[in-house]
Amino acid sequence: LIGSAAIAQVQDMPGGPKVNQLNLHEGVTQITRDVMWLHWLLLTICIVIFVGVFGVMFYSIWAHRKSRGHKAATFHEHLGVEVAWTVIPFIIVIAMALPATKTVVAMKDTSSADLTVKVTGYQWKWGYEYLDGPAAGVKFLATLSTPRAQIEGREPKGEFYLMETDNHMVVPVDKKVRVVLTAADVIHSWMVPDFGVKQDAIPGFLRDAWFRAEKPGIYRGQCAELCGKDHAFMPIVVEVLAQADYDKWVEDQKKKMAANADDPNKEWTEAELVARGEKVFAANCVACHQANGKGIPGSFPALDGDKVVLGPKDVQINTVLKGKPGTAMAAFGPQLNDVEIAAVISYTRHAWSNAGKGQDPTVM
Ligand code: CUA
Repeated sequence: LIGSAAIAQVQDMPGGPKVNQLNLHEGVTQITRDVMWLHWLLLTICIVIFVGVFGVMFYSIWAHRKSRGHKAATFHEHLGVEVAWTVIPFIIVIAMALPATKTVVAMKDTSSADLTVKVTGYQWKWGYEYLDGPAAGVKFLATLSTPRAQIEGREPKGEFYLMETDNHMVVPVDKKVRVVLTAADVIHSWMVPDFGVKQDAIPGFLRDAWFRAEKPGIYRGQCAELCGKDHAFMPIVVEVLAQADYDKWVEDQKKKMAANADDPNKEWTEAELVARGEKVFAANCVACHQANGKGIPGSFPALDGDKVVLGPKDVQINTVLKGKPGTAMAAFGPQLNDVEIAAVISYTRHAWSNAGKGQDPTVM
């Protein structure tokens, strides 16, 4: 509820959808309606019990306020009372458990989905991969695109900014979408309150969830598991489109992917690799190692050779592929293709020699 309220606060701003800040999201799925109904049912039962119990207590205090010196009644066993305080709570618990179990079972039923999308949490972005249907093979990362200074500085003063991403998940309306979640480094959590979905993304595990959005629109969420320095900057944006618009999106994605494909069989020149590597660095490395490769002293080493010896190429490739245990350096093997890895390494070595270090003595 607190998480939902926080999201509500972020969303209730110019350009964002109007939402009720004091309650759960009304949402656009059957599950969100079921959860809302459950929430009111349980709250009502709790209020009735609260008023009953505290009503009797305060009534007794008030009604017997002049009873100083009276002796308390002493009696043992009362079959009627004992049956009542066993049977009534039992009925209440069943009345709460039945609809709650029904909803939980429905939430977990990821069978016969129309569409499956693998969602991977990275420090600090989301990766989406369409596993089946006409979009099968479509794959992209969704990284924060709103400038950090704008979000943190709230310039002009008092303005709020929606956190946008360079890419976002797109799904068709009224289709059962199964999301299969995992993470590449630490635990993240994929939460979209309007779908009633909040599922941890755990390294080494696959967890799934589902939603069937009934209204086209843009729905927002946020990583909901503390995952490091930029946890607060992992927005989730999901766009629900009418079927025809979705088909058009799939077509566009396929064209875009074909145009941008890194061909591993092409003879890449050093200059081409460095140019490609600069883009890969800007998209994946700058958050920690900074645009100029200077790093963050004490946390992330400089990549231009000021602070570290780059090491032989195979050590570098391994570091990029597998990350560095015990540090914040994540494994990029799962998110970059072979050309991107070769390119980013060419780029950092190029930056090294441009920094006046000359030929790296450890080049193999
Ligand atoms: Cu990812 Cu918090």
